[in-house]
Amino acid sequence: MRMILVGPPGAGKGTQAERLVKYYGIPHISTGDMLRAAVGAGTELGKQADGFMKRGDLVPDAVVIGMAIERIQQTDCRSGFMLDGFPRTRAQAGALDVALTQASVQLDAVVLIDVADERIVERIVGRRNDPVTGKIYHVRYNPPPADVAARVVQRKDDTEEACRARLEKYHSETRPILPFYDSKQLLIRVDGEGGPDEITNRIISALKSLAG
Ligand code: AP5
Repeated sequence: MRMILVGPPGAGKGTQAERLVKYYGIPHISTGDMLRAAVGAGTELGKQADGFMKRGDLVPDAVVIGMAIERIQQTDCRSGFMLDGFPRTRAQAGALDVALTQASVQLDAVVLIDVADERIVERIVGRRNDPVTGKIYHVRYNPPPADVAARVVQRKDDTEEACRARLEKYHSETRPILPFYDSKQLLIRVDGEGGPDEITNRIISALKSLAG
């Protein structure tokens, strides 16, 4: 399975990716996680990305494209991968298309997890991450267990202001790539409202019907 997860910030891409990569046995490639790791490690790439991320802006294509393409060329991606948060601009989608064509590899699906804008801020501002396991929680919808609660952290870009900026970028830069995948009959739209289990089931059954 070679797939892309796309959707607004806080749509549940990371939450669903965690479940789907186990189900399909494929690596999870999140450009957001890769960039946060680079920022945390203080690498040159991390230094370039940090300010953009804090503001809720997109990191420039020139920084992200090479990083993502290099990752999908690694051996563990030979029989499949899940891209989460990449591509999110026309230039990124074009670069991915060229790289996959050169490798004679085809995508199986692009899954759009759709959530209305008015639900997004609440999801983002209430998110908490466990730095030890990488698990994603929410203060209201999925509170961390008592033994984890003391160590959870909030992402620097999970403020209301940065969230609104990210949402704006999603509408201006990322939504415009969807017709490209729709024209290739790869786009699956999934309603992202409801419980996480319900949404996982929706995605898996949509992917099964695509394969059948
Ligand atoms: P990235 O890390 O990709 O963030 P994002 O796309 O904004 O998405 P999020 O991680 O915020 O949300 P999500 O959809 O994964 O939701 P989650 O499952 O956590 O990117 C961050 C930044 O990095 C970007 O702004 C940009 O600067 C940079 N970047 C990354 N990739 C880039 C690229 N390709 N090009 C340029 N720049 C790039 O869920 C959110 C919350 O909701 C959680 O608390 C969760 O518990 C809760 N939740 C999940 N599902 C449900 C549900 N069904 N019901 C109720 N609550 C739920």
